[in-house]
Amino acid sequence: EKYTVVIPAAGQGKRMNAGMNKQFICMDHIPLLIHTLRVFEEDLLCRSIVLVVNPDERNAVAELLQDYNIRKVGKLVRGGKERQQSVYEGLKAMEEGGIVLVHDGARPFIDHSIIHKLVRTAGTKGAATVATRVKDTIKQVEAGQVKATVDRSCLWAVQTPQAFRHTELLEAHRKAEIEGFEATDDASIIEFVGAPVYIVEGDYENIKITTPEDIVFGEAIISNRKEEQG
Ligand code: CTP
Ligand code: MG
Repeated sequence: EKYTVVIPAAGQGKRMNAGMNKQFICMDHIPLLIHTLRVFEEDLLCRSIVLVVNPDERNAVAELLQDYNIRKVGKLVRGGKERQQSVYEGLKAMEEGGIVLVHDGARPFIDHSIIHKLVRTAGTKGAATVATRVKDTIKQVEAGQVKATVDRSCLWAVQTPQAFRHTELLEAHRKAEIEGFEATDDASIIEFVGAPVYIVEGDYENIKITTPEDIVFGEAIISNRKEEQG
């Protein structure tokens, strides 16, 4: 089954502290956003990319798409104030129906086999997210004091991509907006309307480039992959 991917890239990258949108920061001499777009450009199951950007950066992004020969971006959509609004704009701009993936512009290391597993899960079950088992022991704290230790065996750290039936996610976003429900990922929007979300186990390399040390980790992942390829 083929899919369309909505890629929100309209953030400000405040936690990166780079004085610009982190999507333009280079790793291995290539902008972060291009690393991410290439994954989908090269995935045969990806029909098209809806890229959500800040209007002030639209021209710069269009230029990058040209320079790096990214051809699958069918639409450059204007982002909103929060990620949730940016995704909603992307969903409204695309053709109705089919499977839609939502994937952070800032997650360049997702691989094709996990994407395909996710798409298959969404195709049969409805909504799915990539996630990894939590490695740390997590404690619940109030006012500096430990209240409880959460059973780690049922904790998962969710990532993107997340996959949905387009009509269902669009409808859920509409409802969330009307009722003022705010979320940092799209699986939460589906949970909000009471539908099930399934887990596809991913890997720890699929980091989100968020703070400055993530650039160092990212460069390490790239050089490690180059070595493995020989
Ligand atoms: N995003 C978006 N529109 C927004 C906010 C975020 O499209 N209004 C995108 C970001 O560009 C990023 C993804 O959502 O690709 C995940 O968000 P995050 O990692 O939080 O990026 P930023 O919001 O840019 O970073 P920060 O929160 O540190 O400012
Ligand atoms: Mg953010």
